[in-house]
Amino acid sequence: MNKRFAQRTHTEMKDVLMDPNAPTLNEHYYMIRGDNEDRNITVWESGTVGDEYVKTYGHYHRGDGDETYWILFGRGIALLQKRAVEGETPLSDSIEEFTVTHINQGDMLFVPPRFGHCLVNTGPSFLVTADNNVAHAQEGPASAPVENDYEPIKEMRGFAYYVIQHNGEPTLVKNSRYKNIQHEDLGGLPVVEL
Ligand SMILES: [Fe+2]
Repeated sequence: MNKRFAQRTHTEMKDVLMDPNAPTLNEHYYMIRGDNEDRNITVWESGTVGDEYVKTYGHYHRGDGDETYWILFGRGIALLQKRAVEGETPLSDSIEEFTVTHINQGDMLFVPPRFGHCLVNTGPSFLVTADNNVAHAQEGPASAPVENDYEPIKEMRGFAYYVIQHNGEPTLVKNSRYKNIQHEDLGGLPVVEL
């Protein structure tokens, strides 16, 4: 397969889903890695896995790099979270800041350094973005460049909140594996306990 192209399968996504056993799609999203100054393209399937909307696995950057996303088509929700640090070490289960941002076609989304990011497709069709992540210039497969750190997200089985469809609307469910969140902006979304 072309090394520029990768797809995230359900088997991989099980690590970070609210309900890993929910019946679902085979592939959740597709990535085309740019080269040099090219942008990367991501295309999300629409729908839900159980009640949870289709999303990216999510990651932190190992370095201090920021990232910009351009929303080319569709709509969704971006989850950003910054880990608290103990000395120099970031803590997987303790979040200094968590934000929910609504994203729509034509928007630009800036991800500041140190913020983990996960994008969720809450629209009726594909969500399509371009981004300027430079990870594609590094070693590693197209599906998981070494510059991206997926492990803390895997360890916590997702971000601090899951985005589910509840009464037909995007709604948050707290991920109880996180011990604390110091500051949060939930973007006006309701929160339910399951
Ligand atoms: Fe990134």
